[in-house]
Amino acid sequence: MGNQPLRRVGIAGAGTMGRGIAQVFAHRGWQVVLSDPAPAQLSSAMDAISRGLDREVRKSRLAPAQGIEALGRIEPASELSPMASVDLVVEAVSESLPLKREVFGQLNRICRPGAILASNTSSISIARLASASSRPGETVGMHFMNPVPVMELVEVVRGPGTSRDTLSATHRIVKGLGKTPVEVNDSPGFVSNRVLMPMINEAVFCVHEGVGTAENVDAIMKLGMKHPMGPLALADLIGLDVCLDIMETLYDGFRDTKYRPCPLLRSMVTAGHLGRKTGRGFYRYGRRVPEDS
Ligand code: CAA
Repeated sequence: MGNQPLRRVGIAGAGTMGRGIAQVFAHRGWQVVLSDPAPAQLSSAMDAISRGLDREVRKSRLAPAQGIEALGRIEPASELSPMASVDLVVEAVSESLPLKREVFGQLNRICRPGAILASNTSSISIARLASASSRPGETVGMHFMNPVPVMELVEVVRGPGTSRDTLSATHRIVKGLGKTPVEVNDSPGFVSNRVLMPMINEAVFCVHEGVGTAENVDAIMKLGMKHPMGPLALADLIGLDVCLDIMETLYDGFRDTKYRPCPLLRSMVTAGHLGRKTGRGFYRYGRRVPEDS
């Protein structure tokens, strides 16, 4: 906010991450186009953003009038076409390479020359996304952490073709959002998920093999290692489907069995127990108790 000029950003995908990213940009004075082909997803995203901005007002980080203005800066869209006028797109669709490549192909046709095409991918190669857009110089990873309004880090991923100008603009934008950019090279899982996800996967193995209950595994990491939440509660927050996708990307990318997804993780995803978003994962939500089955 403050002296930062108004600029336009497009967010593709209104899931957990897309809506958090849209909220943070609107909070900081950007005009936001939030696109998603599913009307129900868009309206639940707008409700969640409204609640998120109310939370910022309650915490006195925004004046009530600014909260209303920020919500008014977000334009929901069912198509990508309004992205024609944006300076920056942050792609935040599901963690699927074919889907992301399809979106990058469309953005390539729609966006103005010079627009930055950023991806919030948590593990997919930026080079593979850049080759779908034929704009490697403007393609960059802008990896936000969940919950987006709270977490300080944005992992900035430099693809092999990402230009210096794009990188420095990305650093500037991230700082303008009140977050800290940390730059890494393009590699499966980058740094964040290459380190975090094997830990989560190993925690799932501990439950799978009966070494400990979910509650005890989490208690050990919280009380013993001072993690703010246990790895299984964190997996539920991230989404077990996202965790599985990231493990698959690590396994495919390195061809190393140390990244083999735990069978329990796979079976929970197959059963539709994806964590908080479905009300059931390693814990049940609303009523949060450890799973006993
Ligand atoms: N949205 C917005 N704000 C939220 C929030 C949400 N979903 N959840 C919590 N908060 C806010 C609270 O309002 C509170 O704000 P104030 O400090 O201003 O009061 C603050 O966060 C702390 O919340 P709580 O006191 O309710 O709970 P807590 O202290 O247990 O913190 C937490 C909750 C911030 C989620 C904390 O447990 C935490 O940091 N957990 C680890 C999260 C993490 O590791 N995220 C990265 C995941 S990996 C990833 O995202 C990358 C990937 O590719 C998978």
